[in-house]
Amino acid sequence: MARRKIIAGNWKMNMTPSQALKLVEELKPLVVNDDVDVVYCVPAIDIVPVVEAVKGTNVAVGAENMYVEDSGAFTGEISAPMLVDAGVKYVIIGHSERRDYFNEDDAFLNKKVIKAIEAGLTPILCCGESLEQRELGVTMDWIRLQIKSDLANVSADDVKNIVIAYEPIWAIGTGKTATSDQAEEVCKGIRELIAEMYDQATADAVRIQYGGSMNAGNAAELLAKPNIDGGLIGGASLKADFGKVVNYNK
Ligand code: 13P
Repeated sequence: MARRKIIAGNWKMNMTPSQALKLVEELKPLVVNDDVDVVYCVPAIDIVPVVEAVKGTNVAVGAENMYVEDSGAFTGEISAPMLVDAGVKYVIIGHSERRDYFNEDDAFLNKKVIKAIEAGLTPILCCGESLEQRELGVTMDWIRLQIKSDLANVSADDVKNIVIAYEPIWAIGTGKTATSDQAEEVCKGIRELIAEMYDQATADAVRIQYGGSMNAGNAAELLAKPNIDGGLIGGASLKADFGKVVNYNK
């Protein structure tokens, strides 16, 4: 069964609402590709205007984060039902920037994954090793620990529909991309882990993205690998280049 590619932009903390609308208009004709799913994961304040602006296009909107409770006294947080009601379809969970700067640990991320699925959102679950871990040779041990903990108590049927993003920390925002072989090796390892934790059908269904300095120049080579089903793109998602990544196969 062929997995449909999914190309997602992670805007991070960029784009005011008015800048966001300009970017969506600029990208509109460039990101049309019936062969792939296209997602913009945008800052919370941009969600409502961007959902409105992409209506009638092939683009879905994702959030960059969410909280684990539905409502209540959690000043500053945004819940999964709020995102769903606003028209959001995806949510990034466990990006390395949230793990590092906001101390989000795997037990907390596991709660987020479960809550997102329960609400009807598709999690884009991120994992990835630091440069130090890669040099120590513990990349796959680390990623196995992250994925096993983050997917605790998640059923095979639910895992089939989530997206996993492999993002080596040393390749994020550094201009240093993992080689396509390095990226494929880990994405393959993640798929093998899913087969081990669940079954082959689940492993064959789950979509695994690569992220880390992916751009118009390297997307086609990365996406040609059998276990790389898409990209999670930071810097290059904020410019016309993103259209070239989406149309990597044209
Ligand atoms: P860059 O594409 O800017 O390296 O960011 C990758 C990333 O962190 C996407 O989530």
